[in-house]
Amino acid sequence: MLSMREANVPVKRGLGAPPSPTGHNGSVDAAAADLMAGVGWNEPAQAVEYLDRIAGLPPRAQGEAVFRDALPERPRSVLDLGCGDGRLAALVLDARPSITRAVAIDRSPPMLERAAERFGLDDRVRVIRWDLNDSIRAFGTFDLVVSGFAIHHLEDERKQRLFAEVARQLEPGGWFFNLEVTKSSTPALHQHFLEAIGRTEDDPEDRLVSAETQAEWMHDAGLTDVHCRWRWRGFALLAGRGRSR
Ligand SMILES: C[S@@+](CC[C@H](N)C(=O)[O-])C[C@H]1O[C@@H](n2cnc3c(N)ncnc32)[C@H](O)[C@@H]1O
Repeated sequence: MLSMREANVPVKRGLGAPPSPTGHNGSVDAAAADLMAGVGWNEPAQAVEYLDRIAGLPPRAQGEAVFRDALPERPRSVLDLGCGDGRLAALVLDARPSITRAVAIDRSPPMLERAAERFGLDDRVRVIRWDLNDSIRAFGTFDLVVSGFAIHHLEDERKQRLFAEVARQLEPGGWFFNLEVTKSSTPALHQHFLEAIGRTEDDPEDRLVSAETQAEWMHDAGLTDVHCRWRWRGFALLAGRGRSR
């Protein structure tokens, strides 16, 4: 059953994006506007490079294994923030067949196309074009909110507001898991990390923050039981729980 708020969210399966809260109308116009504005992740080449590199990266697989083990037993709903090609949402759906509602949001058309292909006719899943700079409140509440390597693209102030929105949108006792790229302790350690994941530099839009600071922000945002569940160099799995109301 959709909440009134969620029913009002312009959604779509596959591409042909909804009007976005930033005023875009329709996928072609919105994509063209973003391309002209130089917004990241609209380039199919960037998406393909990332997806190819990440596919077989052992530390990512380790982080995902910990994430999978940490999932609550019988969640009914999940929201994936910055879903990319839907890899994390798919992992959750595979691990937890109790899920009947999955919402995967991202603003990149090439990524959304892949997510739409991945989920095909799966009626549990909706793939929605959405900018994480805009409030997620309209999507309703969830037992699980997850994100993979996406929130570090947002400015720090927005990260903190997003954490507060996540805290509000979680059902009591629900979990937020953020598998993320974080700021290393020193520039030299960051360089080692980048080399270990097959990169020479960060993306220009990266706004990296240490795992410790993000954990503090999550706590300040109203999440409880905040902790770093797993860490490997600059990768971290941060987790926090929704408070009971
Ligand atoms: C490194 S990819 C990660 C994709 C996927 N979550 C994963 O785990 O592989 C980062 C994703 O964040 C999305 N993203 C970055 N900034 C965004 C924003 N402001 N709103 C929505 N999505 C955004 C990009 O489009 C891209 O799909």
